[in-house]
Amino acid sequence: MKSNKTLNGTANFHMGGKDIELPVFSATHGPDVVDISSLYKQTGMFTLDPGFTSTASCESQITFINGGEGTLLYRGYPIDQLAAESDFLESAYLLLEGELPNEEESKQFRHNITYHTMVHDHFKNFFNGFRRDAHPMAVMCGAVGALSAFYHDSTDINDPEQRKIATHRMIAKMPTIAAMAYKYHVGQPFVYPKNDLGYTENFMHMCFAVPAEDYKINKVLADALDKIFILHMDHEQNASTSTVRLAGSSGANPFACIAAGIACLWGPAHGGANEAALRMLMEIGTVDRIPEYIARAKDKEDPFRLMGFGHRVYKNYDPRAKVMQKACHEVLEAVGVKNSPLLEVAVELEKIALEDEYFVKRNLYPNIDFYSGITLRALGFPPEMFTVLFALARTVGWIAQWKEMIEDPGHKIGRPRQIYTGAAKRDYVDVAKR
Ligand code: SDX
Repeated sequence: MKSNKTLNGTANFHMGGKDIELPVFSATHGPDVVDISSLYKQTGMFTLDPGFTSTASCESQITFINGGEGTLLYRGYPIDQLAAESDFLESAYLLLEGELPNEEESKQFRHNITYHTMVHDHFKNFFNGFRRDAHPMAVMCGAVGALSAFYHDSTDINDPEQRKIATHRMIAKMPTIAAMAYKYHVGQPFVYPKNDLGYTENFMHMCFAVPAEDYKINKVLADALDKIFILHMDHEQNASTSTVRLAGSSGANPFACIAAGIACLWGPAHGGANEAALRMLMEIGTVDRIPEYIARAKDKEDPFRLMGFGHRVYKNYDPRAKVMQKACHEVLEAVGVKNSPLLEVAVELEKIALEDEYFVKRNLYPNIDFYSGITLRALGFPPEMFTVLFALARTVGWIAQWKEMIEDPGHKIGRPRQIYTGAAKRDYVDVAKR
């Protein structure tokens, strides 16, 4: 990646008894940054920012979020336009290469992905080590981490050709592995990918086809899931993407880095929130019980939070949640659900929360996970598969961000410092004297 940040003057500080000035850089969109990389050398001091609320970890040209406006751009294109006009593989190409593909580029990319969808046949044996009732995300952490044991011929991160093959393998094989995790979980035989199906149709076929009868692709549902995958593809330097970058900064192979990202995404504060949000709506059950849960969400003594609500960056409505809400209505109609009690609770919960001073003051709005669970369940997936679907889509963002970092000639291993407040230096005391 060629740097695009532009020098925009300096920031002057008086620190450690010294007057120092640090360069300020401007972005295409979003806040300016103060480059503090020379701060320790100049002042002997670190900065402290737990949770990185005010810290940019890198320069990136892939995704931009305007948290105040509630907008999201993939390589400059608004997410609602891509969700409406593009498809998953075209958007994947955009995130990886920086431009929308022309006809020939699109054809070649789709071919490369399609012809990498099968996994090594010994990979099936790997699943047998898991209990059938294992959470599919636990299986995904293990299975994806094992990929480097099967594809060590594309783990040399310094070889551009191997990086490209690993990238195509990762994007192509995630649906196959996710479908295998689902089939293993429900005790049905694995279904192989079919090269005459589109990316998301293929995934649905591998999940829902059974040997006993033909599986008919429902185009409306496949298109809705493809749109949902686009919404989940990338999101700046979120926790799991930062995990992938940090793992990749040590030179770890891309399969291991993606496995690290999957592990981080699983957390209920992050990608695990889609499963947690649906289970919360199921627990609330009816509209009359909403006030009890709103009160619990506001009670500092109660660890309960409204799952699918709030966001570190969005202080406005998550634009993905708007598209997701529309997809939810489309899917429910397509599957013939006239009125969904869960959707009724979700819509009323959102309405009450957005009128409540506690949520308004803290700019807490529904995020992408609030409506996704209702939609994914209507598509036929159990809640324990929701974060697996998030990981399937986010693999494109993870691998695009990893690629951007590795291709940056100035990248170095990530190694944060700390403020140490433990015991002062002291000598060992013999046990007889303690
Ligand atoms: C994703 O980073 C990304 O981009 C993530 C993601 C992506 O695409 O990669 O967008 C995907 O992870 C979406 C978020 C999914 N998580 C949830 O829905 C879980 C519920 N939400 C939260 O736990 C919380 O909102 C976070 C984790 C999402 C954000 O937490 P922050 O930014 O650290 O904010 P905070 O915890 O400091 O909260 C600020 C205040 C606090 O109250 P006060 O201390 O100011 O009194 O808001 C309160 C919090 O208690 N608060 C909530 C709340 N979220 C924040 N109170 C009740 N319910 C909530 N959901």
